[in-house]
Amino acid sequence: MDGYDERHPDDRLAGNHPLLLMRDGAPVGTARLDVAGPRLGIVRLVAIEPNLQRRGLGRILMQEVENYARGFGLERLEVNAAKEAEGFYQSLGWMTVRSDRNPLMTKALNPGEIPS
Ligand SMILES: CC(C)(COP(=O)(O)OP(=O)(O)OC[C@H]1O[C@@H](n2cnc3c(N)ncnc32)[C@H](O)[C@@H]1OP(=O)(O)O)[C@@H](O)C(=O)NCCC(=O)NCCS
Repeated sequence: MDGYDERHPDDRLAGNHPLLLMRDGAPVGTARLDVAGPRLGIVRLVAIEPNLQRRGLGRILMQEVENYARGFGLERLEVNAAKEAEGFYQSLGWMTVRSDRNPLMTKALNPGEIPS
């Protein structure tokens, strides 16, 4: 994505977890999980290597992010999605809670829980 600042201090804040998806020893995708409270995580900076998109890696990346978030006891995730990526999150079970240029979307991590 354009505009990423690798020296941005948010990547190094306690509670913010920059993550890499590795395949055969090489990074193929990235996401950051920010632990925003005892139950809520915010997902940011989600991306798959451009020439590897639409092959299932984004799905794997988000499953791993969800598992990682459960390890902190988080119950719900949010993302301010890129409009073009809304369908991607929807296909992974996320729901749009505010339609916008960057729709706010949420996913409950515990099956059966209704996001508040
Ligand atoms: C969005 C992104 C992370 C998806 O990763 P990906 O590896 O291409 O996604 P996958 O191949 O794992 O797709 C998983 C599912 O989402 C769907 N999907 C993927 N991208 C989609 C899109 N842009 N619109 C609608 N559906 C999409 C796929 O069809 C697939 O559905 P299915 O399993 O039911 O067939 C990737 O396209 C990307 O890096 N985009 C540029 C950066 C970006 O927009 N990041 C999101 C910022 S919030």
